[in-house]
Amino acid sequence: MLRDVGRILIDRERVARRVEQLGRTIAEDLRADLERHGHLDENGDATDKVVIIPILTGAMVFVADLIRHMPLKMSIEVVAVSSYPGKSMASKGVSLRGDLPRTLAGKHVLVIDDILDSGQTLLTIRNLVVEQAPASCRLCALLEKTGKKVVDVAADYVGFEIPDEFVVGYGLDYDGYYRNLPDIGVLRPEAV
Ligand code: IMP
Ligand code: MG
Repeated sequence: MLRDVGRILIDRERVARRVEQLGRTIAEDLRADLERHGHLDENGDATDKVVIIPILTGAMVFVADLIRHMPLKMSIEVVAVSSYPGKSMASKGVSLRGDLPRTLAGKHVLVIDDILDSGQTLLTIRNLVVEQAPASCRLCALLEKTGKKVVDVAADYVGFEIPDEFVVGYGLDYDGYYRNLPDIGVLRPEAV
């Protein structure tokens, strides 16, 4: 498996440092939002207003690490999307498997994906969230491919900007594989 990855783009230590920073920053921003909306209790703790929506399957590893740097009361509602069915490297449009929870009105929502490429996935989910009139809706992606966006959507939080190469590891897959690699790397052309 490791032989299929030609080059490591971001190693696990760099990922871990950045994910910790991101988690702390997002938690501080959410806390400020909660305070502004009067959504903290008398002890200054978050009430039941924060909902994290990880986009499966790619965001699984990232979210697991990120939320452990976010000391806030939160619930997690996953949504499953497929945009790269099978051995494809280009988005074939976004298909949602299942529904979003119908309980996002008045909540502070954070949507999390592994990578922002064409932008279609995050845009689709964001629109579905916003329909429900949340108190706030933020978007977070671990990676963003520079200059690749075809739709108008900006992530509020991005871990790393990367060049336009197909990457795997730390949750990202090719044909469903390589998600369990601890580092983020570029596949060898022979592995494709
Ligand atoms: P978008 O909808 O085009 O922004 O694509 C986002 C989705 O495509 C992500 O959730 C990933 O699952 C997938 N994707 C985009 N680029 C890559 C990549 O380089 N490696 C693995 N998956 C990718
Ligand atoms: Mg994928």
